[in-house]
Amino acid sequence: MSTRRQVVLAIAAMAGGTAAYAAGSSQRSAGRYDEAVRNTWRHTTDKPVVDLAVNRELVRYATLAASSHNTQCWKFKIEDQRISILPDESRRCPAVDPDNHHMFVSLGCATENLIQAAQAFGKHGAVSFDSAISDSVNVTLEPSTAIVSPLFTAIPQRQCTRTEYDSRPVSADDLKALEAAGSGKGVHVLMLTEPAKLEQVLEYVVQGNTTQMSDRPFVEELEAWIRFGYDEVVSKGDGLFSGSTGNPVIPRWLGMKMFNLFFTAKNENDKYAKQIRSSAGIAVFVSEKNDKEHWVETGRCYERFALQATALGIKNAFLNQPVEVAALRPQFASALEIEYRRPDLVARFGYGTETPRSLRRPLDQVILV
Ligand SMILES: Cc1cc2nc3c(=O)[nH]c(=O)nc-3n(C[C@H](O)[C@H](O)[C@H](O)COP(=O)(O)O)c2cc1C
Repeated sequence: MSTRRQVVLAIAAMAGGTAAYAAGSSQRSAGRYDEAVRNTWRHTTDKPVVDLAVNRELVRYATLAASSHNTQCWKFKIEDQRISILPDESRRCPAVDPDNHHMFVSLGCATENLIQAAQAFGKHGAVSFDSAISDSVNVTLEPSTAIVSPLFTAIPQRQCTRTEYDSRPVSADDLKALEAAGSGKGVHVLMLTEPAKLEQVLEYVVQGNTTQMSDRPFVEELEAWIRFGYDEVVSKGDGLFSGSTGNPVIPRWLGMKMFNLFFTAKNENDKYAKQIRSSAGIAVFVSEKNDKEHWVETGRCYERFALQATALGIKNAFLNQPVEVAALRPQFASALEIEYRRPDLVARFGYGTETPRSLRRPLDQVILV
C-alpha cells in the first residue's frame, strides 16, 4: 500500500502541480459529486398524485438498480397503466457480455425495484416478457393496497460494496431470508458458507480473472466504463466510479497511468482472495433455462436478494468472472454439481462499511417519448 501511495505521489509530482488539483478544484468537484449522490439516492420527496407522474417516479426507483458496469442499459416507455423496460443496445458490452445475458439480468434488476416501488405507491405490477417482438419487460399496473416493504425502504441504501468484509458469519435465520428473497420462478440461489466451498469458488474467480486480464478487448471495454474523477462521474452519471471500487479519485489521464501500473492479474487475484476470505458466504444464482426470460428473472432474484441483504445490514458484491468466461462456465457448473444448468451470477456477502456511491443518468435520458 505504501509503495502504491509513493507511486501515486511520484506520478503527481511528475505532472507538476497535480497535487494542487487534488486539494483545490477537486474540492468543488467533490461537492458537486456529494450533491449528485444526495439527489440520486433518496426516497420520493414530493409525493406525486397524477398517475403519469407516479409512473415517472417508479422509473426513477427502477434506475437505482444494479446494472453490469453501471451501463444502465435500459429504456422505459411509460403509459397510463403500463411501463415497458427495453434493452438499450447502444450500451451493450460485447467483450464481457457477448450474448447480452448481463444486459437482460440488468433489466430484471430494474424490474424488481419498479415492482417494489409500485407496491409502495398502491399499485400491483404484473410482469411479462415479450420475446416475440421487442424483447421488452412489460409491467401492467393495477390499483392495490399500498405496502411499504422493507425491500422498498432499502432501495436508496443498496449498493455493491467492493471492500473486504469483517469475516462475521450471517445467522441461519438471515441466510434463510436471503435464500427466499433470491429465489424465483425457475431460478434459485445456492448459498455457500463453508470455507472449503468459498476456496473452491475463489479458484474459479482467479482462473476467470486471469483469462479476462489477458483479453485486450475485455480490458479496453472495462477502461471505457471507468469514471476516474468527480467531474467525469458527475457529467456522465454512469459507469464504474473509481472511488466506489476503493481506488483514488483522480483525473482520467492520471487514473489511466495508475490503471496500467496496478491493474495486473496478480494484484486483482490477491484482492479477490482477501475479499472472499473476509466474506460470510457466496450466493450463486442458477436458472433452469438459458433464455432471456430467465435472465430477467435472475436479475429480479438478485435485486431482491440485494435489497433483503441491505434491509438486514448485510453488504454484497459480485464476483462474476467464473460465469463470464464462457469456457470456464461448464467447469464451474460441474464443481457446483449443477451440470445441466447455467450458473448466472456470483455474489459474495457479509458485513462491511459502505463505499462511495455510483451515480445515475437523468431520467430524461432513459424515458422514451
Ligand atoms: C448482471 C450484472 C453483472 C455484474 N457484474 C459485476 C462484476 O463482475 N463485478 C463487480 O464488481 N460488479 C458487477 N456488477 C455490479 C455493477 O457494476 C453495479 O451494479 C454498478 O456499478 C452500479 O453500482 P451499484 O450497484 O452500487 O449502484 C454487476 C451488475 C450486474 C447487474
